Amino acid sequence: MSVDADTFRSLMGRFASGVTVVTLVDADGRDNGLTVTAFASLSLEPALVLICVDRAASLHPLLRAVSTFAVNILSANQEALARRFAATIPDRFDGIGYTRGTLGAALLDEALVHLECRKVQELPGGDHTIFLGEVESGTIGSGAPLLYYRGGYAQLER
Ligand SMILES: Cc1cc2nc3c(=O)[nH]c(=O)nc-3n(C[C@H](O)[C@H](O)[C@H](O)COP(=O)(O)O)c2cc1C
Repeated sequence: MSVDADTFRSLMGRFASGVTVVTLVDADGRDNGLTVTAFASLSLEPALVLICVDRAASLHPLLRAVSTFAVNILSANQEALARRFAATIPDRFDGIGYTRGTLGAALLDEALVHLECRKVQELPGGDHTIFLGEVESGTIGSGAPLLYYRGGYAQLER
């Protein structure tokens, strides 16, 4: 039997993480994106990352359909973007600065890191799906990472 949802959130909230926005271009050519903290490095050879996306999220069916996506690791000054890409608004990309990567997905301006990924596998994970991406290219920006801890945004002090 599992712990209840509040206890689980409280436990996992003590695990500090970075914050990413996963982006893709859907079948209609529209940019889409979602704030995701369930992101991890998985394998070195080949270079694989994983993201876990709620089966109820609007991005979920789109991720299932695409062959490529990008992971934007946010900088400390991008809290507003993290909120925006988790919010229910008509167009999360309205007024957002980005360039387009070679695999097609949006690479957000001023992100700490851009990873361009080719989707290689999907695995069931409870009410989420685990998407594995092979990292084909990446760029590193400047600055510090945005963090998420105990339900709030934070910054590194060092
Ligand atoms: C800090 C933060 C981290 C989040 N991490 C994830 C995540 O790892 N996976 C996920 O599916 N949703 C995550 N979400 C929720 C989504 O960003 C989004 O709010 C939710 O799926 C609803 O999106 P929708 O309206 O497009 O369906 C996170 C939200 C926030 C604010």
